[in-house]
Amino acid sequence: MTYRVVQWATGNQGVEAIRAILDRPDLELVGAKVYSEEKDGMDAGVLAGRPPCGVTATRDIDEILALGADCVAYFPLLTDLDEVCAILASGANVTTTAFLFHPRFLPDADLAKLEAACAQGGTSVHGTGLNPGNLSGVLPLALSGMSRSIEKITLQERADWSFYESTNITFDNMRFGRDVGDVSEEASDFLRFNSTIFQEEVALLGEALGADLDEVTAEVELVTANDDHEIFGIPLRAGTVSGQRWHWRGWRQGQVLIEIETLWTVGGEYPPSWPTPQDGWTLTLEGEPSIRAHLLTLMSYDKPLPLAEHVRAASVATAMQAINAIPALCEAPAGVRTMADLPLIRSGFGFGFATPVPPF
Ligand SMILES: NC(=O)c1ccc[n+]([C@@H]2O[C@H](COP(=O)([O-])OP(=O)(O)OC[C@H]3O[C@@H](n4cnc5c(N)ncnc54)[C@H](OP(=O)(O)O)[C@@H]3O)[C@@H](O)[C@H]2O)c1
Repeated sequence: MTYRVVQWATGNQGVEAIRAILDRPDLELVGAKVYSEEKDGMDAGVLAGRPPCGVTATRDIDEILALGADCVAYFPLLTDLDEVCAILASGANVTTTAFLFHPRFLPDADLAKLEAACAQGGTSVHGTGLNPGNLSGVLPLALSGMSRSIEKITLQERADWSFYESTNITFDNMRFGRDVGDVSEEASDFLRFNSTIFQEEVALLGEALGADLDEVTAEVELVTANDDHEIFGIPLRAGTVSGQRWHWRGWRQGQVLIEIETLWTVGGEYPPSWPTPQDGWTLTLEGEPSIRAHLLTLMSYDKPLPLAEHVRAASVATAMQAINAIPALCEAPAGVRTMADLPLIRSGFGFGFATPVPPF
């Protein structure tokens, strides 16, 4: 079976996705949706640093919807639920790294719209990635398979965004380099949106593991830079926000049962009052037994590569989790499909000797 795939948005993750789709015999790239004028009309293979593949990128959504693809890999900077509903209603499934990690957490009207679009198109939608995604959804659930009982789950992410080349996300969306008063859920629609997707992850784990949460909360502690810095040519002035420590917590009867924490900095300064874990993610399940895993993505552990590779490797990992889900998603019953619903997603390319990797 070959699944016909459209890559929607060709940023850092989008180009990684295009390379994977081109490499896999069970996936066929049939379209590429771009936003920028300069990419409109370019060959999608060339956009991904590959030889031309004969697929022309377009900004025209109707052209994309008319392709009759099996799946759209939806990786834009800003999301649009109506757009996703139009894709689903047209008969294409949607795998996305940008949102919809636990759509049942959405306001009722939005969830109803999404489910109606899935029913109309006979399609399903899946939000996944790295975090939110595998590390805050799939992996805790997988590790919980070794647990008799669980008391608390925490995921701590330590990342230096100075190495993340998506500077529009770092500065425009996440508001690093802005005054403290500009960086809150109240001050920014995007930060509120971003906070919601992590709250979705907490709620997803809570539901999947019977935590019966009373509420899910968000809190952020900000730190400012002592000195001026420059990140991919963009200045970050002293006195502006250079660190964001978010906590998304799932509570039951006054106790935190599930927590996602970020220790995010830009510019190389690290607040002395913050904990100092290794870069990457530390996942802890307190319970019987208690389990801890530390994870770090790099392009190679065998070659001496700088830690900056950690962030680029994370972009690959984010994109692959969504691309590798395509066969399972296309075969899933129509509707909302979370990380708790789909079977375990594994590499579809694998070692690359058996093509394609046998179905689960
Ligand atoms: N789940 C996770 O673990 C995880 C982790 C990191 C990031 N993300 C999310 O994944 C998505 C892709 O990230 P990335 O690193 O690939 O970002 P990126 O490199 O900054 O690329 C952004 C993409 O957005 C497109 N874009 C430009 N203007 C837009 C607009 N007005 N509306 C919508 N899209 C627009 C760009 O179009 P062109 O194709 O024309 O360049 C580009 O493809 C983002 O939503 C990001 O927040 C998820």
